[in-house]
Amino acid sequence: MTITTLDTPSATPLLDWYDRHHRDLPWRVTPGMAARGVKADPYHIWLSEVMLQQTTVQAVKPYFARFLERWPEVTDLAAAENDAVMAAWAGLGYYARARNLKKCAEAVAKEHGGIFPDTEEGLRSLPGIGDYTAAAVAAIAFNRQAAVMDGNVERVISRLYAIATPLPAAKPMMKEKVALMTPAARPGDFAQAMMDLGATICTPKRPACSLCPFRDACKALKLSDPEFFPVKAAKKEKPVRYGAAFIAVTDDGEILLRQRVASGLLGGMTEVPTTAWTARTDGETSAEAAPFDAAWQACGTVIHVFTHFELRLSIWRAAIAAKVGTNDGWWEPVTNLEAQALPTVMKKAIATAIPLAFKTSKG
Ligand code: ADE
Repeated sequence: MTITTLDTPSATPLLDWYDRHHRDLPWRVTPGMAARGVKADPYHIWLSEVMLQQTTVQAVKPYFARFLERWPEVTDLAAAENDAVMAAWAGLGYYARARNLKKCAEAVAKEHGGIFPDTEEGLRSLPGIGDYTAAAVAAIAFNRQAAVMDGNVERVISRLYAIATPLPAAKPMMKEKVALMTPAARPGDFAQAMMDLGATICTPKRPACSLCPFRDACKALKLSDPEFFPVKAAKKEKPVRYGAAFIAVTDDGEILLRQRVASGLLGGMTEVPTTAWTARTDGETSAEAAPFDAAWQACGTVIHVFTHFELRLSIWRAAIAAKVGTNDGWWEPVTNLEAQALPTVMKKAIATAIPLAFKTSKG
């Protein structure tokens, strides 16, 4: 049963809007498909939800297609090589997600016979599945009445109720409101409708309020200033770290690569040799920190923003006659870089030194 209170707007106008204006997404069972008896595939829903955290729908689509082509079932992903999964994920960012993705697939394959648990609690017990993903998969794949809240939903709710408490302190209150609004009948469509509304109508800037199914109920609109919400706590400036990256290329067109340690930032991903990334401006950003002596040339600086700091990476390039022996790393043909598990910052570093290294610019 859905509990409604006087203060709780009805979900019906939103679901009617979703029936007409939902986005067609590769992992989505639209209302029309559901009417023809098509069921959501929990593997597809889980994979898409993990990919969509911190990443846009447009960026996720080609990755989602490649993953399914290569690993059509969760048991295929469970049996995959770790390195292959990391390489397929390269460019999507937040690489702990890829490591957890693999662990979760293994748990589903080994402990659940290849079948995803169909409750929020069951899903949350899997590695790498937190509150958001458990609720999203439970609602979308299994039609459970779970309250799903991501950034888009936070924005919609904060405006609908004109919530003046700043984020993140307002989150528990917002989640309660989402729970009260979530209908028993179509909780998965409700969750997806809230996300689509946030992505297409209730946008951060210049929301299209005249097209919104909640325009009669929205308190922020009544106050004439929807953009004022959500209120956010003042942001701290990101600290800056410095480092250098070294792109060595042989006359045969091979580049020196190595693998980062398994845990921590970009854990297990591939990189070009780089110094530690430190807060000191007098850190190792010169050719003296290079892995071996050569005629290193400065090519510029790559700036890359991580969640907790901004990195300024000095890029050095050396053309060398032949491979230099290293106890750490390997020489890879530049023509094979697309197949490596290179995170975006490393692609930017390499592309600064070798402008034609990447044909496509994924990630
Ligand atoms: N963002 C994250 N998950 C989504 C979903 N299921 N539909 C639309 N946007 C999303």
